[in-house]
Amino acid sequence: MIREIWQYLTTPVAFSYVRNKGFLKEAIAMAARARRCRRQWDKHYRYCEQTIVNAAKDLDHRHTVLIIGAGSLRDVPLDYLARHFEQVLLVDLVFLKAARRQAAVYTNVQLIEHDVTESLEDIFDGDPSIHKPSRWLDDEQVDLVVSLNLITQLPLIPVRQLIVNNRISEHQADEIGRKLIRAHLDYLQRFPGRVCLIADRESVEYNVYDEETDRLDTWWEVEAPSEEESWDWELIPFGEGRANRRQINRVAVSIL
Ligand SMILES: C[S@@+](CC[C@H](N)C(=O)[O-])C[C@H]1O[C@@H](n2cnc3c(N)ncnc32)[C@H](O)[C@@H]1O
Repeated sequence: MIREIWQYLTTPVAFSYVRNKGFLKEAIAMAARARRCRRQWDKHYRYCEQTIVNAAKDLDHRHTVLIIGAGSLRDVPLDYLARHFEQVLLVDLVFLKAARRQAAVYTNVQLIEHDVTESLEDIFDGDPSIHKPSRWLDDEQVDLVVSLNLITQLPLIPVRQLIVNNRISEHQADEIGRKLIRAHLDYLQRFPGRVCLIADRESVEYNVYDEETDRLDTWWEVEAPSEEESWDWELIPFGEGRANRRQINRVAVSIL
């Protein structure tokens, strides 16, 4: 707990809403859960790394790779990317110190704190219009883009804020969530190079008898692109979340 408070107080952030609206708290909580659930999560991290290596392997050019949602870097094959690309751009709203230290080892790796929806400032000012993201679209050096366990997370904090502060209806909340997901998908599809989307597709909860107790469409009913492969990520093992429940997310890869 002291470690988490210290992280909260000392992590530098580029935007005040990262601290005020809960993104920093989420990043710290996720890092703590990753330590507690190392045995279950490592398998998922290795699948992500291998998927990114496979996506990079047969490219004709390897100038720049853009990893969106790099966060903890635990699912990024950083050493491989730094050796095979001229430039590695790691994008997220929050980078904790462990990620900063890891990236600092490489001269061609850059951490970029950036809101990939390009809408958060306005949303937190109470304007729920969702913009079309455009950053890096005109950068011809970008040969590979990876959206990494991020797309289904994009609506969570902004939609919650709009419900609490602006009292939007459930229907409006769903619509804004869908717009954020669609806008990210459109953004990815506008890159001319290879794009690899790694994202959870559904989340299923089980009781101790291995009976399904709940199922969630993590895509807010937006149609997801076709899958190349998928695996299970035991996100919440028994003893970690609600009593006698575990949660498994199916994570899938799409090449856009
Ligand atoms: C499930 S985590 C995945 C992060 C990383 N791939 C990992 O597994 O540690 C989702 C990430 O999305 C980031 N994120 C959420 N909304 C974002 C936004 N609008 N712009 C950029 N990053 C965002 C969060 O900070 C978080 O690091």
